[in-house]
Amino acid sequence: MQHIVRRLAEKRAAAELGGGPERIRAQHAKGKLTARERIELLLDPGSFEEWDMFVEHRCADFGMHEQTIPGDGVVTGYGTVNGRVVFVFSQDFTVFGGSLSEAHAEKICKIMDHAMKVGAPIIGLNDSGGARIQEGVASLAGYANVFQRNVLASGVVPQISLIMGPCAGGAVYSPAITDFIFMVKDSSYMYVTGPDVVKTVTHETVTHEELGGAVTHSTKSGVADRAFDNDVEALLMLRRFINYLPANNRAAPPHRPTPDSADRSEPSLDTLVPDNPNKPYDVKEAIHKIVDDGDFFELQPDFARNIVVGFARMEGHPVGIVANQPLVLAGCLDIKSAIKAARFVRFCDAFSIPIITLVDVPGFMPGTAQEYGGIIKHGAKLLYAYAEATVPKITVITRKAYGGAYDVMASKHLRGDVNLAWPSAEIAVMGPKGAVEIIFRKHRDDPQRIAELTDEYREKFANPFVAQRRGYIDDVIMPRFTRQRVCRSLAMLRGKKLENPWRKHGNIPL
Ligand code: HXC
Repeated sequence: MQHIVRRLAEKRAAAELGGGPERIRAQHAKGKLTARERIELLLDPGSFEEWDMFVEHRCADFGMHEQTIPGDGVVTGYGTVNGRVVFVFSQDFTVFGGSLSEAHAEKICKIMDHAMKVGAPIIGLNDSGGARIQEGVASLAGYANVFQRNVLASGVVPQISLIMGPCAGGAVYSPAITDFIFMVKDSSYMYVTGPDVVKTVTHETVTHEELGGAVTHSTKSGVADRAFDNDVEALLMLRRFINYLPANNRAAPPHRPTPDSADRSEPSLDTLVPDNPNKPYDVKEAIHKIVDDGDFFELQPDFARNIVVGFARMEGHPVGIVANQPLVLAGCLDIKSAIKAARFVRFCDAFSIPIITLVDVPGFMPGTAQEYGGIIKHGAKLLYAYAEATVPKITVITRKAYGGAYDVMASKHLRGDVNLAWPSAEIAVMGPKGAVEIIFRKHRDDPQRIAELTDEYREKFANPFVAQRRGYIDDVIMPRFTRQRVCRSLAMLRGKKLENPWRKHGNIPL
């Protein structure tokens, strides 16, 4: 018996070394942690239960039968983050470059299946050279098996990908299906084809970092939701992030008690919106002052900055925030911002997280670039997402709510539950100047008359009262009381029940 126990200990020690000390040193030299070190940082101390530590590949080609390493390049299992169960896989680059074999894929699929059975989030720590080249189509089958599970898990349990090394070729499509992608700067990259192929096909010279690094994907493509400086920061932020999410689509988001009173008033909000309607202000200031403890976890902060999305809490309950940002493009909706916000709204709706929308939008962005890029279809995504959402929806119009963008931004007409406006709100079909230039075209050569008519229009329409008279706005509130009013609305809506008609699935404009 002792002999067997000793053998087990030796086998464990060997498996824990992955690709061996030399490769571990190489991993550290790149500023990267090992697969196991990452899991240790992510999970509560001592909570990790590892499965399939001794699984090996079954490939006999290209001399692979002489090279087996227990675990086969991925560490899998479950543990807790702040006491809540999560399933995790962490690819081990020290073993065959973290490449995905048939056995490696089976390990990932096993924990995904369990996560679905028990209703717990799936976290993938990706660091892989892609398909195990020696295994050929068996490896491709492995990927497809993971993709299929990603799709079936979508909207059932939260799925988060942390890219901590290479992620190339078809391998990118598993993270792409997951709900959130976080990347590590300078050590991770994602692309469908690498710099060499790009050079051959398009004659562009580009580095790994430029083509698919964390900065590229968090500023240009919008593929990544956040970019962190190093492994440690990324893992600790992921621990913080998971606290906003429910375990699954039937569980309530986790409540965290707060000393921040629901009745806290914030007098400085009364002067946040400048008198001059053309002057911008930072909507993030409003967000920080409204939510619990000023704590806001922003997503995609450097992509489509004309809209702000992220998680916060109100009275300890997680909420999703969507806010037009007047500091960037005057807060206009364009293709990128519509896609960014639509995906966020759909995540919140899938996982029972109420949505608070702060509106200051002059309209959709005009121009050929937008029209040729398909703003009609992309803008419709946000409209569709809001209209389909059945979670509590609270809207606060801080200033402009013009045209189609008024309708889209969680208006009463898209089943907004509580729609409030600050006294500075301007709700109309378009801004005063544009409106007068169209309806009083015959006066266009008379600037004084145009100015008078503009003032008249502004007086008549650039306010919240016309919409309020029709019941499209439930109340006009002093900005300082926004937190209180939103907290009360959320408390009132906690028992909300609303179902969409039965259908196989809708057909969101993609
Ligand atoms: C088998 C691989 C591997 C792979 C790396 N290794 N990628 N083994 N299959 N895909 C092995 C290397 O042989 C090496 O083994 C070890 O991992 C470390 O790799 P290095 O090249 O030394 O590391 P580095 O210089 O950091 O370069 C990392 C890399 C490079 C950029 C990822 O390894 C690389 O280009 N790999 C191939 C990438 C690729 O083409 N993958 C297939 C993509 S197609 P030793 O024993 O020397 O340490 C694909 C299709 C998926 O993924 C389709 C899904 C639908």
